[in-house]
Amino acid sequence: MAVVEVENVTRVYEEKGQAPSPALRGVSLLVEKGEFMALAGPSGSGKTTLLNLIGGLDAVTSGEVRIDGRALGKLSRPDLADLRRDRIGFVFQAYNLVPVLTAAENAAYVLELKGVPAGERRAKVKAVFERLGLGAFLDTRPMKMSGGQQQRVAVARAIVSEPAVVLADEPTANLDQATGAALMDLMRELNRERGITFIFSTHDPMVLSRADRVVRLVDGLVVAT
Ligand SMILES: Nc1ncnc2c1ncn2[C@@H]1O[C@H](COP(=O)(O)OP(=O)(O)OP(=O)(O)O)[C@@H](O)[C@H]1O
Ligand SMILES: [Mg+2]
Repeated sequence: MAVVEVENVTRVYEEKGQAPSPALRGVSLLVEKGEFMALAGPSGSGKTTLLNLIGGLDAVTSGEVRIDGRALGKLSRPDLADLRRDRIGFVFQAYNLVPVLTAAENAAYVLELKGVPAGERRAKVKAVFERLGLGAFLDTRPMKMSGGQQQRVAVARAIVSEPAVVLADEPTANLDQATGAALMDLMRELNRERGITFIFSTHDPMVLSRADRVVRLVDGLVVAT
């Protein structure tokens, strides 16, 4: 079954005093459960826009996005929030960590929303941090960490609750080769062991070479898959 269905989606950004600019011009895409898929394409081609729409962070101008067969545009706000919390993990291009929380608290946030007890949260976060080489940073605030370390905290936050789908916007962009490869190994393991579906955008040839499928966007359209 397709876990993500994107059907003829457009997204037009309307800004005051400017001509409307279509970031997506009719994109269709089916992603099966357990896929490990990359979105490629030049800067400005619409990768982040598409990930935001799949993750329910932004609304389509026309067309439809369905997760587990449920059309996001037809859900109430609380139902959409629940679906995001329970089914989707998101790694943002700009990590969006909360500065007043420690790295571990940032990563544990979704578990807290789900009502997982504190001890169990800590244990889960610790295990993921250790796999990502962040074992020493549980109680560090993001401001005191490098860009690459913050990126890994953002990844930990997205995967620790084991969502059905993880959307990752250029997850290796700020990592060196070795750390980026270790991150891809971890994502692949979660994909194989737990059947988590991954969709990641990237410019990185190493990341592209590890994907099962590459969908290429140019100028708001899918040109190859
Ligand atoms: N919030 C916004 N308001 C107006 N225009 C936007 C907004 N976000 C993106 N755009 C425009 O939409 C188009 C697609 O942008 P998007 O960020 O999806 O590209 P991208 O493929 O992720 O690029 P990159 O590889 O640089 O991250 C671009 O022309 C961009 O200028
Ligand atoms: Mg982008």
